[in-house]
Amino acid sequence: MRHTPDPGPRRLGSSDVAVGPIAYGCWRFAGTGVEAATAKIGTALDCGMTLVDTADIYGFDGSGGFGDAEVLLGRVLAGSPDLRDRMVLATKGGIRPGVPYDQSGDYLTTACEDSLRRLGVEHVDLYQVHRPDVLTHPEELAGTLRSLVDRGLTRLVGVSNFTPSHTRSLRAHLGDALVTTQPEWSALCLDPLDDGTLDLCTETGVTPLAWSPLAGGRLVSATPGDERVARVVEVLDDLAAVHGVDRATVALAWTSTHPAGAVPIVGTQRVDRIVSLAAAAQVRLDRTEWYRVLAASRGVPLP
Ligand SMILES: NC(=O)c1ccc[n+]([C@@H]2O[C@H](COP(=O)([O-])OP(=O)(O)OC[C@H]3O[C@@H](n4cnc5c(N)ncnc54)[C@H](OP(=O)(O)O)[C@@H]3O)[C@@H](O)[C@H]2O)c1
Repeated sequence: MRHTPDPGPRRLGSSDVAVGPIAYGCWRFAGTGVEAATAKIGTALDCGMTLVDTADIYGFDGSGGFGDAEVLLGRVLAGSPDLRDRMVLATKGGIRPGVPYDQSGDYLTTACEDSLRRLGVEHVDLYQVHRPDVLTHPEELAGTLRSLVDRGLTRLVGVSNFTPSHTRSLRAHLGDALVTTQPEWSALCLDPLDDGTLDLCTETGVTPLAWSPLAGGRLVSATPGDERVARVVEVLDDLAAVHGVDRATVALAWTSTHPAGAVPIVGTQRVDRIVSLAAAAQVRLDRTEWYRVLAASRGVPLP
């Protein structure tokens, strides 16, 4: 039985699909040329970041750009078809600008079909519900997700930004077919630790994919005057010196150390940073080190 996450591949839930211990995310991906985009995806895959996470909404700026990140990734795959076989391709749907959430069967099915068309693929490996639409009964949502799998549009399904109770109610209808959950999780966002998300993962085997593991960059480009960030950064820098890596690498390793085995999804658009962050998979923090970061984030000594 595994209690401490391995530095190697992680299986997605109870499936036989394995991914690297760090994933690459495309939230900030839209807006460059295909050559630059191909270099990022190729580097991420070379570094073992085999899960590539995108969403239909990535690229949307409030008025336009819906689907742009998927279109760009689709161009990358069209130009370098070998990359598709090397990745576990994940996307998301269910945020509908102006609504704002819609997981009705008709909408989500069309959203998934549209994502495949933009990506230029016959199927994705993981289709995730981006944010909960509490007006869709979980039984209906489960039926829709099962039908996407049955039709071969996705191999696996997951959720994102679901509370543990949302996840449980969906799981009651999907069982182990629900393989991932994607919460925000970092040394500055402790919600999954406090709200039971990580406990639900250890209980059920659902794999947590951690979004914004560097707090969207706040852990690396600390905002002057933010005392909480300053406290956390001071401890991360101490640990970085001990382990001979940089602060970002330690911050990533911190998210993976919990036994739920989170896979952090990094979002840098710089190829050199993709390479350096990959080292996080080799960094093991001991209990004292891990709890030092937690205490700094909470701002009180741990009882
Ligand atoms: N499910 C959801 O609702 C949700 C929401 C948000 C994100 N996500 C997923 O999570 C992924 C990652 O999110 P994120 O981009 O916020 O993650 P992140 O890795 O926490 O932050 C990346 C940001 O930090 C900056 N940064 C500054 N110094 C850095 C350094 N030394 N190393 C690395 N990055 C540095 C990057 O800038 P540079 O590009 O200049 O390096 C980039 O702007 C997304 O792409 C998406 O797949 C999901």
